[in-house]
Amino acid sequence: VISGKARIAGVMGWPVSHSLSPALHNHWLTQLHIDGAYIPLSVAPEELENAFRLLPKFGFVGWNLTVPHKEAALKLVDEVDSAAKAIGAVNTVVVKDGKLIGKNTDAGGFISNLKQKIGDLTPYKKTALMLGAGGAARAVAYALKEEGFETILIANRTHARAQSLAKEFGAPMRALPWEEIPGMLPQVTLLVNTTTLGMEGQPPLALSLDNINPAALVTDIVYRPLETPLLIEARKRGCVTATGLGMLVFQAVNGFAAWFGKLPDIEDAEEYIVSQRA
Ligand code: ATR
Repeated sequence: VISGKARIAGVMGWPVSHSLSPALHNHWLTQLHIDGAYIPLSVAPEELENAFRLLPKFGFVGWNLTVPHKEAALKLVDEVDSAAKAIGAVNTVVVKDGKLIGKNTDAGGFISNLKQKIGDLTPYKKTALMLGAGGAARAVAYALKEEGFETILIANRTHARAQSLAKEFGAPMRALPWEEIPGMLPQVTLLVNTTTLGMEGQPPLALSLDNINPAALVTDIVYRPLETPLLIEARKRGCVTATGLGMLVFQAVNGFAAWFGKLPDIEDAEEYIVSQRA
């Protein structure tokens, strides 16, 4: 039941119809018997500034941002946390005393997902190899650096983009030419795909794992399908793997707690999302 006092949050996207966040947050609201709602907000880029100005006046407690708004949101908030600043993107806004606080919980979500699935990440911290240098890669790069990975390599189809990302984040990050991936794979202890390759409706990730270190951890931020061809192939070669859907769950926790005042139960969240999608 939503009363007149309900706390209202949502997700702004353009389009927003693909977002799994409304299902997830409303599942948690129901589980915790919270008087609140989380709604999809179809906001065109030219209306983003208006939306940021008006929603707090209507009592919204905050919102998430999805494609294509995360970068533009950075300039529309009053304060940003260190993750949002370094990543250059805001995915969570909390309205606090009339001010808009911008956060980035994608990086934390990425690491929390790995820790929940794998446990201690220490054995995998020697050499990380990231595939891709787009927006999602920035959050992963920040996360790996914060977690203290010793070497972080970035390989991207467009090498110049990998170089500029590596330069911006600095040591221990460096760009690796795409064609040098096979020679590097025996040393890699964490392999992460941050590109959209392998996603349903996208081209496959054309990468041979022949040389992969069987002691490596392999993860993918693509979660549709849940088990990407990269993860299936890696597991066949003895690697430990972690699916990416949990990143979506964990990035949501922080906003939920700030808006609705309770920590949600992450135990059945992935299962719930998958059941909703079926
Ligand atoms: P996002 O914000 O979701 O990361 P993006 O900024 O468009 O999206 O980045 C997509 C990533 O996937 C990039 O690293 C991109 O490589 P380029 O920088 O060379 O464009 C990568 N990517 C997309 N399609 C690709 C393809 N067909 N082959 C190789 N890499 C691809």
